[in-house]
Amino acid sequence: MTRSEHDVLIIGGGVAGLTLALELAETRRVTLLRPASDDHGASRWAQGGIAAVLSPQDDIQAHVADTLDAGDGLCDEATVRFAVTQGPAAIDWLIGLGVPFTPDANPQAPYPFHLTREGGHGARRVIHAADATGRALIDTLLSHVRAHPAILLHQDVNAIELIADSVGHCRGAYCLTADNQLTALLATDTVLATGGASGLFRHTTSPIPACGEGMIMAAELGAELMNLEFQQFHPTCLYDPTGSPFLISEALRGEGGVLRNLDGQRFMPAIDPRAELAPRDIVARAIDAEMQRDHSPHVLLDMTHLPARTVRELFPTIHAHCLERGWDITCGPIPVVPAAHYSCGGVATDHHGASQVPHLYAIGEVACTGLHGANRMASNSLLECLVFARATAQALRHPEPRSSAPLQAVSFGGEGRVDSAMIAELMGRVREVMSRNAGIVRHDAGLEEAASALQVLRRQCQTLWHRHLPSVELCSLWRAVCLAELTVKAARRRRESRGLHFNRDCLGHAPGPAQASHSYLNR
Ligand code: SIN
Repeated sequence: MTRSEHDVLIIGGGVAGLTLALELAETRRVTLLRPASDDHGASRWAQGGIAAVLSPQDDIQAHVADTLDAGDGLCDEATVRFAVTQGPAAIDWLIGLGVPFTPDANPQAPYPFHLTREGGHGARRVIHAADATGRALIDTLLSHVRAHPAILLHQDVNAIELIADSVGHCRGAYCLTADNQLTALLATDTVLATGGASGLFRHTTSPIPACGEGMIMAAELGAELMNLEFQQFHPTCLYDPTGSPFLISEALRGEGGVLRNLDGQRFMPAIDPRAELAPRDIVARAIDAEMQRDHSPHVLLDMTHLPARTVRELFPTIHAHCLERGWDITCGPIPVVPAAHYSCGGVATDHHGASQVPHLYAIGEVACTGLHGANRMASNSLLECLVFARATAQALRHPEPRSSAPLQAVSFGGEGRVDSAMIAELMGRVREVMSRNAGIVRHDAGLEEAASALQVLRRQCQTLWHRHLPSVELCSLWRAVCLAELTVKAARRRRESRGLHFNRDCLGHAPGPAQASHSYLNR
């Protein structure tokens, strides 16, 4: 195994990882690992935008209150206030970098960039780059990262396990190169920006979603995982059983789009006074109920209230993409279905990204800061990536001395590589179990069935992981099955329905204050 020494190692190159790299590179040397293909991860697929208090007609307290309300009593209020307060400065930073946000066409508008509205927000506060905000952010941040002399960007190296020393500090990561050679990247500080765990489910809103790899790698070093049972399903993904996933932004509903059942009837106003702009947990559950009742595989989203020209101007990417698949959103309703989108739980961190493991940090979707509680409000995720990456950079500018304790011994398995088809088949089984029993609507018997099935699958995967040479796919499978098991355990422990965790055998909130859930590996 080869070894190399690094200063700060960032694993993951979505909005959180790229932001941290840029903010830190003036003071520290940064090594950034990022998948070569843009189909990985979630940031680039974000459409709607970034929530922040930008209009003089909006205020911090209103954004805080909306976030707390969407989080269904489980947000950490200090964290919410911290993120919301830091939001406007983060947006100014992005504007300074040249992100092409959509200007407001109205010269009298109180803020120069167009602000849209999404579910849960009581005001227009979502800044966006047309309907491809994630792509605009990634392209801009990545071009700055590539040009920075203090950032070493590796697009062909994948972390498969964190390195611990004998006193339990994180000391970097074992990685596989593109030609499957093991290499140890030793680092003073290591930051996970690896994304969430939507890949535990069959239908997702991004083509190659993360499967909780970073969460379990952190937990293997003793980090606490929090609120794993809160998996968000975005209410509207284009229904196309044969095509790749395609998100239909909540901003469409923000601009007045309505949901209809297959009889053409609008169903949201009867469920929540905010109708289509209720928080996502409520809308996704209502769609699920409608689909169950009609035995239909989807519902409809209707944008025909807007002139065709406005739809094309506001949503050029969505309009063009749907047209390619045979749907013209300006002419009639399109079929949509909820799909796994965002993990509210993750590695428990403080406001500066620190996990419980010394020298190990986590930012973005892999982390659980307490911002989202039981349900993330739309467009607060890119806000979180930016704010906590910038705060983590601040903390890391003054490095703590690194321990010089010996590294823990590690051995990477036995003989040969596991066949990709077998890994894909096992991953399919994990997704099947999670989608059937731990999705939008849960019940006790289903969760129990999932727990038993996952225990069997984990034993099978453990044997493969320990007896074969590592590969990136095997690493994902092993971490996915471990995280699926912890997720189901957390869901079974929560004896209530709250936010995204809806158990029809346990309706309503448990008495007393809302409690976060805490999960550890091997406990
Ligand atoms: C969307 O555009 O609907 C997705 C944005 C988000 O998940 O916050």
